[in-house]
Amino acid sequence: MHDQRILVLDFGSQTTQLIGRRVREARVYCEIWPYTADIERIRAFAPRGIILSGGPASVYEHDAPMADPVLLDLGIPILGICYGMQWLVHTLKGEVAPSARREFGRAEIEIQRDAPLFAGLTTPQRVWMSHGDRIETPPAHFHPIATTANAPFAAIAHESQPWFGVQFHPEVVHTLNGTAMLENFVYRACGCSPTWTMASFIDTEVAAIRARVGNRRVLCALSGGVDSSVVALLLHRAIGDQLTCIFVDNGMLRAGEAEQVATAFRDYLHIPLVVADSAARNLDQLAGVTDPEKKRKLIGHEFIATFRRETERAGPFDFLAQGTLYPDVIESVPVRGNASAIIKSHHNVGGLPEELGFELIEPLRELFKDEARELGRELGLPEEIVGRHPFPGPGLAIRVLGEVTRERLAILRQADALVQEEIRTAGLYDQIWQAFAVLLPVHTVGVMGDARTFENACVVRCVHSKDGMTADWVELPHELLARIANRIINEVRGINRVCYDITSKPPGTIEWE
Ligand code: XMP
Repeated sequence: MHDQRILVLDFGSQTTQLIGRRVREARVYCEIWPYTADIERIRAFAPRGIILSGGPASVYEHDAPMADPVLLDLGIPILGICYGMQWLVHTLKGEVAPSARREFGRAEIEIQRDAPLFAGLTTPQRVWMSHGDRIETPPAHFHPIATTANAPFAAIAHESQPWFGVQFHPEVVHTLNGTAMLENFVYRACGCSPTWTMASFIDTEVAAIRARVGNRRVLCALSGGVDSSVVALLLHRAIGDQLTCIFVDNGMLRAGEAEQVATAFRDYLHIPLVVADSAARNLDQLAGVTDPEKKRKLIGHEFIATFRRETERAGPFDFLAQGTLYPDVIESVPVRGNASAIIKSHHNVGGLPEELGFELIEPLRELFKDEARELGRELGLPEEIVGRHPFPGPGLAIRVLGEVTRERLAILRQADALVQEEIRTAGLYDQIWQAFAVLLPVHTVGVMGDARTFENACVVRCVHSKDGMTADWVELPHELLARIANRIINEVRGINRVCYDITSKPPGTIEWE
């Protein structure tokens, strides 16, 4: 366990995860728990400080989410953000009321520069507000440390206790010096130092894995993506050849992908790898199937069957290592308007069932995606895998819309490779969350030379996203779009029309099926 810890208690804000990320960026370990967390569990976690997140509710409503007031007896620094501040004020008998002039978005605060929370900052400061309530009367012994024209208590501090509240959101980038404010809290108020680095994480995890595994054997299902690759590398460092990796080529991978993974692991990283080929079985089962959920299920079942076969052949194993990330395990808060739990279940497809009977090792459970990437770099994972775009478990099967056949897969694979190549050549690959091609189940008319064609249409999709939950389409330069379209139409036999998808998520999704 990391010895200096911050706890973020979540009241259901859209930006709670960002608080966690900012604290981690300050190199201090932190976890995000629901505001309902049991006080004894909190005591056992022994955080150096607590940050209370924002949330959609108002403290004066009868069913407003209320944390245990015993938090205030723990004797540790507390920072309340927005709703978190209002909870603090309400609990300590101050007054919170609807604001006559609500402040949403950008605002300027005048700060008290000698306040520890604002150490090193000048006044005024640009911040981002998002709440309809404000502090009318702070509790006894609190004084304002920042004000705006509409909010005389834009930030408050207790005169003797290390308790702070801010009406704005320091965790979002629109609060220009928000990171400095959070650093002031974790370093100055909580006394933490920036010691939580990936190198220290590796040391701690390697020791923990060795202690847990002993001389037993671990199996890792490699997908070729960054998460499972990082897990494999970390385990290999900890237990060497007690680790076996299985990579299932389900036939739905992108051009050259299977070879690339096999080469990277065997020849470059020197990690033994079993490659299992289930392409033919998948293609046979997918014949005539057009329903996307059925495709997902068939591929999922075949994956498990293949995995089971290979495990029996290479086993027995005691543990299964998986690349579960922190956003998958954060307990979501049952607050109105928080639909994240429902949206997410869909993304965990490809997980292996419990009945395989393994104990799970999930060394990335505490990490965000960008931290997993950083860990990969630290462990020497090649950049082409570290920076790789996310790719769905069912692979190209859900990008060949309608029936998946060998021919249609080959067409999509070629078009997709051109998209990847052009995005990389333009130097945009690392700025984009996902870039890919989708083959539509429609034929369109065209002319090539003197002949009429009646061929497939494809869609190019490029999105920006932080976590796949929401996404925006990327405004690619027109020359680049033109080059991609031209190359696909000229070089890919079977496609005569290219469209660009300009749908954001929501209301769209990233994938087409
Ligand atoms: P959507 O299409 O729901 O996708 O906006 C969000 C993210 O999840 C990936 N995705 C999947 N990943 N199995 C997976 O492992 C799936 O069935 C699946 N469907 C979508 C998608 O590529 C994006 O990153």
